[in-house]
Amino acid sequence: MNRFILTVQDMTDENAKITIKKNGPYLIFGNIPLREESIQIDAMGKAIKWVEGQKFNQNEVYALCRCGKSSTMPFCSGEHVNKFDGTETADDEPYNDSCLIHEGCDGVKLMEKHILCTGAGFCHAYPRIEIAIKNKKTLEVAKQECANCPGGSLTLVINGEKIEPILKKEISVTNDVKTIGPIWVKGEIPIISANNEQYELRNRVALCRCGRSKNKPFCDASHLK
Ligand code: SF4
Ligand code: FES
Repeated sequence: MNRFILTVQDMTDENAKITIKKNGPYLIFGNIPLREESIQIDAMGKAIKWVEGQKFNQNEVYALCRCGKSSTMPFCSGEHVNKFDGTETADDEPYNDSCLIHEGCDGVKLMEKHILCTGAGFCHAYPRIEIAIKNKKTLEVAKQECANCPGGSLTLVINGEKIEPILKKEISVTNDVKTIGPIWVKGEIPIISANNEQYELRNRVALCRCGRSKNKPFCDASHLK
């Protein structure tokens, strides 16, 4: 098997961060815990919660597949070599400057950057989030639906304050109902492009792991198509 080898230089930085290899995997530094997490649906097929799965015994530095072809998922097996175009196409506009704003009840807004939607479906539950933000009684539902949004497409703002879940630094390889889902990066872990530029630091980010996103490195729900 053509295993992907980390170079000596890759091992020098011990801080928690993710660097992206050109046309290759995500390199994870700093002993970041890795687990599996799956979407649970109800009888109506609506996404209702995340269910934690196995925890991996990962190394301090490890490589996660970005091409979708690895034979040792979620880890890189080297299958990408000469077969994967991983060109990063995401814009560098800050989230705050590139969102749609949905107005809710008094003092409530919902920020949405649709290209970051992974299609996880939590905002389509009971009631849909656009409706939930319009009534003070359903704000708790809206908060939970936003918190479950892995790519941080949605952010709730109440009286000018962004409502973010408290997330410790952790990575989940997610499973959608019928297919693999993105890599959910939690707790403001820096992500560095193959061109050595850092993406905006965010509490919740979903990275593509099927290799098909048009908004690499971020998931754009292409795994569902
Ligand atoms: S915006 Fe977020 S919560 Fe809604 S479907 Fe997309 S990923 Fe799910
Ligand atoms: S990125 Fe290396 S096998 Fe997928």
